Amino acid sequence: MVLRKSALFGFLLLFGFLSLSDSHPINKNLPVYIRFNASHEYRNTVSSNEFNKPITLSRVQEYSRSNNVGSSLKCFACKEALNIALWKFRTPDRKYTGLFKFVISVCERLNIEPSPICSGIVNAMKNETQYLLKHLNVTGEMVCGLIFPSTCKTLDLSWNRDKWVVPIASPRPQNTMSLTKNFKSKAKPLRVLQISDLHIDFQYKPGSPNNCKEPLCCHKDSTSRDNAKAGYWGDYGSCDVPYWTVENFFQHVSKEKFDYIIWTGDLPAHNDWSQTKESQLFLLKNLTKTILKYFPNTPVYPALGNHESFPVNSFPPAYVTNTNSINWLYNALVDAWSPWLKKDALQTVRKSGFYTQLVKPGLRLISLNMNYCNTENYWMLINPVDPNGELEWLEGALHKAEQVNEKVHIIGHIPPSIGGDCLDVWRSNYYNIIMRYRHIVRGQFFGHTHKDELEILYTNSSLSEPVSVAYIAPSITTFSDLNPGYRVYEMDGEQWNILDHQTYILNLAKANQLITGPQWELEYSAKNAYNLTTLSVESWHELYQNWMHTRKSSISFHKYYSYYYKGHPPKEVCDAACRKQLLCSISAGNFTVTSC
Ligand SMILES: *[C@@H]1O[C@H](CO)[C@@H](O)[C@H](O)[C@H]1NC(C)=O
Ligand SMILES: *[C@@H]1O[C@H](CO)[C@@H](O)[C@H](O)[C@H]1NC(C)=O
Ligand SMILES: *[C@@H]1O[C@H](CO)[C@@H](O)[C@H](O)[C@H]1NC(C)=O
Ligand SMILES: *[C@@H]1O[C@H](CO)[C@@H](O)[C@H](O)[C@H]1NC(C)=O
Ligand SMILES: *[C@@H]1O[C@H](CO)[C@@H](O)[C@H](O)[C@H]1NC(C)=O
Ligand SMILES: *[C@@H]1O[C@H](CO)[C@@H](O)[C@H](O)[C@H]1NC(C)=O
Ligand SMILES: *[C@@H]1O[C@H](CO)[C@@H](O)[C@H](O)[C@H]1NC(C)=O
Ligand SMILES: [Zn+2]
Repeated sequence: MVLRKSALFGFLLLFGFLSLSDSHPINKNLPVYIRFNASHEYRNTVSSNEFNKPITLSRVQEYSRSNNVGSSLKCFACKEALNIALWKFRTPDRKYTGLFKFVISVCERLNIEPSPICSGIVNAMKNETQYLLKHLNVTGEMVCGLIFPSTCKTLDLSWNRDKWVVPIASPRPQNTMSLTKNFKSKAKPLRVLQISDLHIDFQYKPGSPNNCKEPLCCHKDSTSRDNAKAGYWGDYGSCDVPYWTVENFFQHVSKEKFDYIIWTGDLPAHNDWSQTKESQLFLLKNLTKTILKYFPNTPVYPALGNHESFPVNSFPPAYVTNTNSINWLYNALVDAWSPWLKKDALQTVRKSGFYTQLVKPGLRLISLNMNYCNTENYWMLINPVDPNGELEWLEGALHKAEQVNEKVHIIGHIPPSIGGDCLDVWRSNYYNIIMRYRHIVRGQFFGHTHKDELEILYTNSSLSEPVSVAYIAPSITTFSDLNPGYRVYEMDGEQWNILDHQTYILNLAKANQLITGPQWELEYSAKNAYNLTTLSVESWHELYQNWMHTRKSSISFHKYYSYYYKGHPPKEVCDAACRKQLLCSISAGNFTVTSC
């Protein structure tokens, strides 16, 4: 989950433009007049007699309909506002003097966010934005497509501009075997813990407002909207979790034995605007120490989340050096992760934040840096072609693993979902690679959505041939309106297939009432809940087919819905639209599902 800083930024410009049209001050009563000037895109699309004169709302609507630029006025106005604001502040040396001050003042004047958030977020983004404005011909079309992807359908930058394809070494060998439904292994199964999306909030304050005007609540200075108060262990409001809840979680799980732990990122709270590089580094060290304290002898394999950087989502590729370079973070990762990773793994971490390491003879783990596919990592706008060569590296690592007969587990933070936060072109390439190496990729593990989700990779949109399964594990944070949760996998110790998994939750409503302390409880075991004999790709596929083709909501689909929200689903039942959306989100691959 991310605070949509792009949305904030775009709105600021939009409202700023409207309010600055001096002859037509912002007016809540329609028609709103918008003065068009200077927008090159507009110049090119309207006849000259329409240009440079105020036009009414209805004409904007008419224009946006007739030119097929996206269905909404919001989209059109956004593009125009951005084009004009960019033009207004563009100096010959592309320094955009005054732009940031202007944006902050507009944000404050129009009460878009409380003042510290306005300046916090704009200042955080300043260096990055300046670099982008200098190196890119940024247009309203570009930015608004990012802000309103559903209504402002514009160019999918990475895909349309550079349909890049990662080369794949050779075709898949014929005599390959994967887990069948009748698979039996004699080896002792492994138990693996997945921890995801901790989002610790050191400022969490029990009794503070849990419903507030800021994007993150449960702070002592949160601006209250009603009288609701934050519980001790966490809250269903827009809040992250306090340190003591996370410590309680570690105390609880450390009583059990795990062969190893996968830790799929997102450590800081969601108060992006008040973070600094120093606060991010403090947290990274603090949490690494916390894990070592509770699991001194258990191997841990971390993956990098989108919140670890500053500003959030900002992960410049290696060619960005000097003040904007990401070295400050990757160097710190090397230090933080060195108790668990070997020298060659740390080498790629230092350069790119990803690595591979042998977990057991025959089982290789690959930890991806999914920030190079993050749609909100705006560095990708400059050159989205396989940033830091990550996918080419992945292909190479899988090829090597195939040759020495290793099986592979892939971990990462952002899942490569259709319509999710991963760039389409990156996702397509990723799935082509998985498709090729499907016989050795025995598991994929992600986080980021904070929900408990499943993804099945198919060869194409007919969804007839399943290839691989990705597990999206629940978050420790409650953000937002969720119970905290974690996941344990049972894996066969020979072919490294996933045999079963258990999900545990902390029922907050109960926990906050008990004096005895929080009770982490088993929510479900996948095999039991869904009546599966194994967690093979075929088993999941059959279950999914069953959900798709049973017209009425089945008991097992209803379970999926409840588990998706970690036992705290919305009060409304999952209606047809909800059902369709949830089902759609399960299919993955190099295709777009147009019906979703
Ligand atoms: C509109 O554009 C013209 C030149 O194209 C310029 O002279 C004028 O100052 C602009 N007006 C505003 C309000 O920006
Ligand atoms: C922005 O760059 C300046 C130097 O150009 C540096 O001092 C400052 O710390 C940077 N700000 C952020 C938020 O990285
Ligand atoms: C921006 O546009 C100018 C003029 O159209 C062009 O010369 C330049 O190459 C473009 N720069 C980028 C980074 O696309
Ligand atoms: C992490 O930081 C918190 C808050 O400052 C502190 O109470 C705790 O002891 C730290 N944990 C470790 C392991 O350093
Ligand atoms: C994805 O599939 C399309 C055909 O539907 C193909 O043209 C494209 O090359 C594939 N993408 C990649 C990255 O291979
Ligand atoms: C989709 O995949 C199935 C199974 O792999 C195959 O039989 C079918 O021809 C494919 N359809 C298209 C349009 O590629
Ligand atoms: C569970 O699956 C078995 C076969 O795999 C079937 O015989 C049984 O009826 C199923 N039970 C339920 C409750 O669906
Ligand atoms: Zn998260």
